[in-house]
Amino acid sequence: MKPINIGLLGIGTVGGGTYTVLQRNSEEITRRAGRPLRIIAVVDKNVELARNITKGSCRVTDDAFSVVNDSEIDIVVELIGGYGVARELVMQAIKNGKHVVTANKALLATHGNEIFEAAQEKRVMVGFEAAVAGGIPIIKAVREGLTANRIEWIAGIINGTTNFILSEMRDKGLSFDEVLKEAQRLGYAEADPTFDIEGVDAAHKITLLSSLSFGIPVQFDKAYIEGISRLDAIDIRYAEQLGYRIKLLGITKRTPEGVELRVHPTLIPEKRLIANVEGAMNAVLVQADAVGATLYYGKGAGAEPTASSVIADLVDITRMHTADPENRVPHLAFQPDAMISLPMLPIDEVVTSYYLRLRVADKTGVLADITRILADEKISIDAVIQKEPQEGETQTDLIMLTHRTREKCVNAAISKIESLPVVAGKVTRLRMEELGK
Ligand code: HSE
Repeated sequence: MKPINIGLLGIGTVGGGTYTVLQRNSEEITRRAGRPLRIIAVVDKNVELARNITKGSCRVTDDAFSVVNDSEIDIVVELIGGYGVARELVMQAIKNGKHVVTANKALLATHGNEIFEAAQEKRVMVGFEAAVAGGIPIIKAVREGLTANRIEWIAGIINGTTNFILSEMRDKGLSFDEVLKEAQRLGYAEADPTFDIEGVDAAHKITLLSSLSFGIPVQFDKAYIEGISRLDAIDIRYAEQLGYRIKLLGITKRTPEGVELRVHPTLIPEKRLIANVEGAMNAVLVQADAVGATLYYGKGAGAEPTASSVIADLVDITRMHTADPENRVPHLAFQPDAMISLPMLPIDEVVTSYYLRLRVADKTGVLADITRILADEKISIDAVIQKEPQEGETQTDLIMLTHRTREKCVNAAISKIESLPVVAGKVTRLRMEELGK
């Protein structure tokens, strides 16, 4: 059994986990793959660290190009991240006829079309299970397990950092800033958490899922992205009083008008299983026509959970690399010549329901003025709560839930409502999803 030779680019958290799990489970993995999987070269800027981990078992270098150009290597595992040198290395590996495994969602969400096309041409595979929801085998599920279905929509908690922050805000009644500082102190959030908290990381992942679900090109530039940094703890409380939790969801949906692709804080009914996913865990809910709803839950990050996905791709490639390239599982679930172009809907055209919080004068006729504006925009109200004004105050919070309506209608109503003299400041608007059929 000739081993398959692997070059590992990056031996940080995920690379280290991959090395450890491959060593620990080598016997079982070989029994599954049919031949040993052997890391023969490791690249890291920190050569010392790489040597300490690998203990002389393979070549260690800081020259990544020497590895992607090494004729002995069959599979390159890219765990460097980013779109700079990682892109050059992946393209060079493909050009050299090597298979690639990557956890790099940013790279694939922005340059995936080019990468998959190059791979197709060179008849090599690009595995990216680790790029979406860490250890959850969601790519495999969508691409293969659900292949009989017409997928209708996907909604996922696909960023652990933000889910941890939202869980803490709810549990402890703390503000976003307080929880973020604590998460950074504990090492849960990156020193620069922008991609996580502003929803960019989740948008990279839902972009890939959208493409896999509908057989459309990867279109990160069409994603609507709103993070959680402006979320007020009071809205988490009010949502809870109404029976909802707020989660940062990545959503992609096929509608008769086109495809929705969006990331934003979302109210979801607390009775849904996905609403109860807490801390840094991830979960992806897929609605498909034949099977109905399926839910995938697990660790979305971390050394060994992500390594689990990297190694699953390594085993798949080991089993499949001698197969006729025409008969392999297509990168994006659909055959490359069967990909279609569907209109991508701007956020203004999205149809959903809404949570509105207004600061209003506690006076006769205020509610009537507001409901008239909503009625003029054909927005139907589902629930209203008016809080009693605090001792000595003349204003109070009014919370309204709407039925489903088009976002542009809600925006038009909000600007009219904000111009009413009895309404103080801005209206807080959050989207809601029932996540039922
Ligand atoms: N930073 C991501 C998260 C994990 O917080 O879920 C890697 O995608």
